[in-house]
Amino acid sequence: MSAVTVTPIDGWNPEQYERFRSERQQPFNDLLALCQPVPGGRIVDLGCGTGDLTNILHRDLRSATTVGVDSSDAMLARAIETHADTEGLTFEEGDIATWLGEGLDLVFANASLQWIDDHLNLLARMRTALSPYGQLAFQVPANYRHPSHLLAHQVANESPFIDALDGDVPSDRGRFVLSPELYADLLYELGAREQVVRMEVYGHELASTDEVVQWVMGTLLTPYRIRLSPNMFDAFIERYRERLLEELGEREPYFYGYRRILCWARFG
Ligand SMILES: C[S@@+](CC[C@H](N)C(=O)[O-])C[C@H]1O[C@@H](n2cnc3c(N)ncnc32)[C@H](O)[C@@H]1O
Repeated sequence: MSAVTVTPIDGWNPEQYERFRSERQQPFNDLLALCQPVPGGRIVDLGCGTGDLTNILHRDLRSATTVGVDSSDAMLARAIETHADTEGLTFEEGDIATWLGEGLDLVFANASLQWIDDHLNLLARMRTALSPYGQLAFQVPANYRHPSHLLAHQVANESPFIDALDGDVPSDRGRFVLSPELYADLLYELGAREQVVRMEVYGHELASTDEVVQWVMGTLLTPYRIRLSPNMFDAFIERYRERLLEELGEREPYFYGYRRILCWARFG
């Protein structure tokens, strides 16, 4: 398969996303450490992205089969290209918002559920996909009060971007992420026998403040890339950079403190 580039349909760009690979892997490692091995079992990884972390999940938890599910053609193409030879590991297209499974030993989702509305129903649906003693594990960013997130919304409301977006600014994903205590309550209500829920701040030392722009271009700004023409998206990025540097200052290095919520539960 040839090199994969971003498509205007899904907006995800594997190369952009992987620029901060080691930083993005830290919360995955912590989530993985909470999970119990499922030798010979079945795992689904929702929003698997490039599949590199799905491969580690599959190997470390010793499942017989692991299926990575993602809605992005670009991300899936990269996952299949890189991991097609790993026994028991497959990838398929699917939408987490409507995904259904059954009899699984682990449903896992790292940095993907923030793209889905209504976490109450989402978690209930994920729970029904489990075997009686199954595990649920997910990690969601909770950085929505940081200027890097707030400014995207603010700039989108400025002219000419608001007009280019037809007055319809991509929704603030922070609205859909619940508090850690609410996730804990929900897991309990869904029948969790054991659970760990924690909020953690991951400190990333980036080369400069400007690198924050590269970081959010790999994730948060994806919906803007889809909705704006290439020229308008470039102009949006320039204005966003200008506002970000004003707000955070031009620092080298820049310390990017990133809040995330990690949840693990075992049922039965
Ligand atoms: C931030 S990336 C995380 C990828 C991977 N889990 C990791 O930790 O490296 C989010 C992924 O979720 C996928 N995604 C977003 N919305 C989705 C949806 N509704 N259904 C399936 N996948 C989705 C994106 O395509 C992207 O690959």
